[in-house]
Amino acid sequence: MRTGRWARRGLMALLLAACALLSACGAGKPDKGERGETNPSAVVVGFSQLGSESGWRIGNTASMEQAAKKWGFGLMRANANQRQEKQIAAIRSFISYQVDVIVFSPIVETGWDNVLREAKRANIPVILMDRMVDVDDDTLYTAYIGADFLAEGRRAGKFLLKKADAMGAEHLNIVEITGTEDSTPMRDRQAGFRWAIDGDERFTIIDSVTGDFLRSKGEECMRYLLDKYGAQGIDVVYSHNDEMTLGALKVLEAAGIRPGQDMVLISVDAQQEAVEALKAGKINCIVECTPDLGNSVMEMVDALTKGKQIPKRNHPVEQAFTEFDDLSDLAPRGY
Ligand code: AHR
Repeated sequence: MRTGRWARRGLMALLLAACALLSACGAGKPDKGERGETNPSAVVVGFSQLGSESGWRIGNTASMEQAAKKWGFGLMRANANQRQEKQIAAIRSFISYQVDVIVFSPIVETGWDNVLREAKRANIPVILMDRMVDVDDDTLYTAYIGADFLAEGRRAGKFLLKKADAMGAEHLNIVEITGTEDSTPMRDRQAGFRWAIDGDERFTIIDSVTGDFLRSKGEECMRYLLDKYGAQGIDVVYSHNDEMTLGALKVLEAAGIRPGQDMVLISVDAQQEAVEALKAGKINCIVECTPDLGNSVMEMVDALTKGKQIPKRNHPVEQAFTEFDDLSDLAPRGY
């Protein structure tokens, strides 16, 4: 931990106590959270979460909170509710509070250069969690930890190859429901999937629409696609997360279509509710994306505050769960 921060720490404790008393914390401003007000010497992590759009995201926030508690670190939290400008404002607050490390999940990849330069000038390391940024200078962040989204997309595509073989399919029309535009999982799940099926003439991606990782938008997208192509015109739905898949599934069932049988459904995340649908035969494949990153993040924070080097890119080990697997022993997902 850098010197000269002790006075700031006392001020921070006062500010956060006042913030709690007045209930004046806006969505882009740090929230009181599990801070170490009673222990001003604790390492302080400024954590900007991008929103609460999915079971995955809620699980990820919980993982961060639990891990900070376990490591005895103060966690200044801010939830940006899907707004980049709120994330930027939160990061600026963390800089002015002189936290030890900033952790954030960038909602989109572009538009971060200025605020990251400010963090670098303030000598505060930045860990990107879950999503990447697209910046000219990669020394603007210290490390990335999160899924290999390209590999996730490839796993989804590879499942489809196997499924098409099993079906003896000659031709399959695919619709894609993507996550938030310009976000890393959207870009890479899209690219990885295309990479896997590229050149195989059995497949045509007839449409790709954006569902923002939200269940409600997954419903809207599926309604739109069904109106446009009809049930007979769609063979496969590739959806970039479980929330949108569950929304699509609801629309299909309401239209008398049997998801998983009349249409192949491929999803990403493996949150519990979707795993139940997979076991019930309503989803054919779910590519795992784990939100359980908190402990690894805090390990990195600990190393950085002790002056140690950490690897630049860090990916958790993930897999795919499919209709071809025995899922009877699959442990509860916890999100
Ligand atoms: O960035 C990870 C993605 O964001 C998860 O797949 C999705 O559920 C979440 O909203």
